[in-house]
Amino acid sequence: MRPVFHSTLVHGTRKRGVVEKMRNKSMDVSSHRQAVAFADNVYWIGVLDPTLRTFDIILRTANGTTYNAYLVKGSEGVAIIDTVKESFSDEFFARLESVADYKDIKVIVLNHLEPDHSGALPELMRRAPQAKLYISQRATSMLKALLKPSSEIAYTTVTTDDTVSLGDRTLRFLHTPFLHWPDTQCTYLEGQGILFSGDVFGCHYCDKRLFNDQVGDFRFSFDYYYAHIMRPFKSHVLDALKLIEPLKLNQIAPTHGPILRERPRRYVTHYRELSTSSLSTDINEQNQSLIVFYMSAYGNTAKMAEEIFEGASIDGVRVSLYDLEGGEVDPFVDLIEAADALVFGSPTINGDAVKPIWNLLSSLAVVNLKGKVGAAFGSYGWSGEAVRMIEDRMRGLKMRIPIQGLRIKLIPTTEELSDCHQFGENIAHALINPNQGSGVIEFSDIH
Ligand code: FEO
Repeated sequence: MRPVFHSTLVHGTRKRGVVEKMRNKSMDVSSHRQAVAFADNVYWIGVLDPTLRTFDIILRTANGTTYNAYLVKGSEGVAIIDTVKESFSDEFFARLESVADYKDIKVIVLNHLEPDHSGALPELMRRAPQAKLYISQRATSMLKALLKPSSEIAYTTVTTDDTVSLGDRTLRFLHTPFLHWPDTQCTYLEGQGILFSGDVFGCHYCDKRLFNDQVGDFRFSFDYYYAHIMRPFKSHVLDALKLIEPLKLNQIAPTHGPILRERPRRYVTHYRELSTSSLSTDINEQNQSLIVFYMSAYGNTAKMAEEIFEGASIDGVRVSLYDLEGGEVDPFVDLIEAADALVFGSPTINGDAVKPIWNLLSSLAVVNLKGKVGAAFGSYGWSGEAVRMIEDRMRGLKMRIPIQGLRIKLIPTTEELSDCHQFGENIAHALINPNQGSGVIEFSDIH
């Protein structure tokens, strides 16, 4: 698990006129269905889902989540930014109706079309047919796929620096794809400095007090959400931060979890920290990092691992060797993310690789392994499927497999150990010289 913040989020004492008065009241939105103002003519019209325990199958949440949607009133019309999960539509519409009429809605923005934010869209467009829908270019195919019964919905696509006017205020769009679907964007309310950030800076944390300076300690949820939702797309996070960091930021209003009105820039800084691997910088300044992970039943795969480790230890490659019998999986995920090459060794037992190897491989969906070098090896008794199965998994993770896996039947001989040494050396050379040779190097199986 990722560590939580190192710094403390401190309550501020700045005066902000009407907004300050709003924030001094402790909010409780669970007992009524009214919109909540959090800036001049800017309202939260989302819903709480405190009983949710699993989101998108992969995320656990111990205290539910929120589906945040927002309403901005301008002199020439109202904008709705994101909606909610369909089953919560009644509450969303009640909050909307508490501050605006459907006939005044001029703009609907969907920053992200996942159903937890687009669920109420068809009904909203039915109630406000004059409103124009603004989405990213990449959202268009999703709009049709997700909202099949309403596929006639008209929309306008927008990208970075496109704007839409509400009269006395302007919404500006930021193209921030893959955070966390390809369609995602952020919307910035100029003048008031409010960033409607979609899933970015969000977390699954449900607290009726709504604001980061009033809710409970949600740092764990914030980091957990980043680790599972944003981490696989770190390069896209860094691209998005290039657009977000220059903005004047008074508040960040994400689609899940607390609205970040107290020290919002702290969360931007934290995203940059989480998206920049210091480990990678330390190791890779001079060297490529190659890690050999293995499990061994009778010591044979261990002997192979040690020879591969020796063979791979050439100039320019920093090699690490780990026996998974002695390690937890989670800390290795950080190492793997920073590594350039990964070599997995497993015996074949009952036609399969062993469970600790699968545990590690299955935990890697949260990191981007695309293009990293992969290789597999292992001792076996009679069938030896593990090596091919590990290779298939690595291919599925979009890794590059330049050297065909190495299998050795039972106890490796001196000659076979020398092959292991060469196998390690070949992997290291393929890592340093990615363009050398053409395609997979055949390494004969030894029986
Ligand atoms: Fe909150 Fe990616 O949906």
